[in-house]
Amino acid sequence: MSDPAQPPAIVAETVGAIGLVGIDNPPVNAVSHAVREELLAAVTRLGADPAIQAIALYGRGRTFIAGSDIREFRAPSKPPLLTEVCSAIEACAKPVVAVIHGTALGGGLEVALAAHARVALAGTVVGFPEVTLGVIPGAGGTQRAPRLAGIPAALDLITTGKRIDAEAARDLGLVDLVVGEGEPRELALKAAADALAGALPVRRTGELAARPDEAALAAATEALARSAPNLFSPHRTVEAVAAATGPLAAGLKRERELFEACRASPQRAGLIHAFFAERAVAKIPEAKAAPRPVAAIGIVGGGTMGSGIATSALLAGLSVTLVERDEAALEAARARIAANLDGAVKRGKLTAQRRDAILAGVLRGATDLAALGEADLLIEAVFEDMAVKRELFGRLDAIAKAGAVLATNTSYLDVNAIAAATARPADVIGLHFFSPAHIMKLLEVVVADETAPEVVATGFALAKKLGKIAVRAGVCDGFIGNRILSHDKKAAEYLVLDGASPAQVDAALEAFGFAMGPFAVSDLAGLDIGFMERKRLAPTRPAAERYSRVADRLVEAGALGRKTGRGFYTYEGKSRAENPEALAIIAEERAAAGLAPRTFGADEIVARYMTAMIAEAARVVEDGTALRPIDVDAVLLFGYGFPRFRGGPLHHADTVGAAELIARIEAYAAEDPHFWRVPAILADMAANGSTFAARND
Ligand code: COA
Ligand code: NAD
Repeated sequence: MSDPAQPPAIVAETVGAIGLVGIDNPPVNAVSHAVREELLAAVTRLGADPAIQAIALYGRGRTFIAGSDIREFRAPSKPPLLTEVCSAIEACAKPVVAVIHGTALGGGLEVALAAHARVALAGTVVGFPEVTLGVIPGAGGTQRAPRLAGIPAALDLITTGKRIDAEAARDLGLVDLVVGEGEPRELALKAAADALAGALPVRRTGELAARPDEAALAAATEALARSAPNLFSPHRTVEAVAAATGPLAAGLKRERELFEACRASPQRAGLIHAFFAERAVAKIPEAKAAPRPVAAIGIVGGGTMGSGIATSALLAGLSVTLVERDEAALEAARARIAANLDGAVKRGKLTAQRRDAILAGVLRGATDLAALGEADLLIEAVFEDMAVKRELFGRLDAIAKAGAVLATNTSYLDVNAIAAATARPADVIGLHFFSPAHIMKLLEVVVADETAPEVVATGFALAKKLGKIAVRAGVCDGFIGNRILSHDKKAAEYLVLDGASPAQVDAALEAFGFAMGPFAVSDLAGLDIGFMERKRLAPTRPAAERYSRVADRLVEAGALGRKTGRGFYTYEGKSRAENPEALAIIAEERAAAGLAPRTFGADEIVARYMTAMIAEAARVVEDGTALRPIDVDAVLLFGYGFPRFRGGPLHHADTVGAAELIARIEAYAAEDPHFWRVPAILADMAANGSTFAARND
């Protein structure tokens, strides 16, 4: 039974001979248990009412149905299942029409496909995002979409999770009619009346046949083997669609079995964690503070980062003034931004006219900081050097207008020390973008001791405007992401000193799901970046810390990674090969340290690397640098290519368990007690049988 304390999730009414069924479960009309129960009851009751001749389904509020309630996938579904509700809609003796607006995704589209006709308001988005959540459509989507659109089109939608507009859905046969405007309830009344008058043809989808297409199924299987070798659910969608050529009841049964196998898989849990991580990070202590208005951005430094940040701001419709050291550097920055904008035009994100307008005036360049006096928010992206940054902030303090936000894009440096170079530390914040800044989704918002709440809120509002995911971080060396990266990279270096090759380490971690292993990533970023970091930290490096000189020696030999064609690997075109020069240096370093190389299997490589990552991630939560474990997961997922289906390092940690992680750390500590230390938070979790997930609530 529905909870009587809750408002109804379905608003059913009769208007003459028409039964109207409005789905009313704000904010997005997700199909929860209550929606299923009340929808089934309403359709059954109206279907049996002799006074009713037709039924129309529509969504109240901003959307039709955004999908099944994703939170409910965590537990076995409570009856009635949505597939039963859809079967009841399809079996109804009266014509049932669905009017869709906003989104009809996943379970929402399945409800619509079970109706006897579909009318979409222009602008409606439809699709089957289930594979992005580790499941498959489980309420007839894999059986009814092929019957309406054919097997190739259904496979294209269901295996990828792509979203299409109403017109494209009509062209595929998933929607019968697209209307330009109207209010959903009124359109629902009209659609039902049209169905009764014969003006809107009705039919039961399940009575149609799906034409067999073995070639399309084989092509989809082959494509997934290439594009999603590590994923479980996309492969199951092909098996489910293959059953659509037989009787509907048998196909629905097969779909259900496959859905349940996906629902029980760890990948489903990881992908749903990632979905909520993207949204959870917005819940910050400063959420209620009013952001300051930002229309004009000032950027100092137009190198890799400054030009990427400028591109991102320009694409979001903000005006940008960029300051470089001299005319030549300014020209180079403009060329980089123009190339980025050309890329956006090619990807269809920008019109050629808009690009030309941006380059003709929306982007302004200068070599004098005085040009930044009117900017609402200034971002510094100059060299990673504390003296340079402090001197610059002192000058910006004298130039920026009152109330302007002063942001630094530093990767590692102390934002408090940078803020202290101004007389307005409350206006200073870290906005740590990732390279390429106009593409990468993550923005770490680094909150210093005196940063004002509305300045933090402004950082989050800017991220939203730029289409980025902001995560709140505290001040420490490297904030959340780079601090963890510095630590786990050491674990990878130690594995190499002890006997693994860089290629073995990368291959093991790529098989685990990382887009690139740590040595391939270092080569891509440039080995000089880590080299400078190590030099900066050398004076404070503890004597007990193991140190690998391999990367330093590669830099000294001019092997800086991809940009010089050689680093840990050699590069030719798109292919990489082990670099004999690197292997020789590794052998020399092992010999100098008196180390006899050991053999490491892929499982041990992953265990050591992941345990190091989790240990530092745990300390980041423990000392408050991250608000919650889920914030750390978001940083690694959206900024560092962590495999989404594993949910992030601390979600993954829960699947391993605190006791096992401690056992590993203690075993490794026998070799290196300085590096391998048990974080207090992990010890506490093991003692209390608790999880990182429990700390997200
Ligand atoms: N189940 C449960 N909760 C959902 C949900 C779903 N299917 N879809 C959205 N929500 C929640 C969000 O978590 C968010 O909650 P919060 O405010 O507590 O953080 C709220 O609804 C609003 O969603 P949000 O994504 O912030 O709104 P939006 O307007 O930017 O986007 C959608 C709306 C529908 C496009 C987007 O939420 C979406 O893509 N949802 C997932 C759809 C999906 O995958 N459905 C298939 C399920 S089978
Ligand atoms: P870069 O060397 O490509 O660019 C720096 C630019 O700043 C140069 O074009 C230089 O001419 C200019 N510059 C230096 N001093 C200046 C001044 N006083 N006034 C005006 N311009 C000046 O460096 P980058 O990779 O773009 O890094 C910039 C900052 O961003 C650093 O703090 C870095 O740590 C950080 N960061 C870099 C990355 C990355 O992947 N490259 C990622 C995140 C953050």
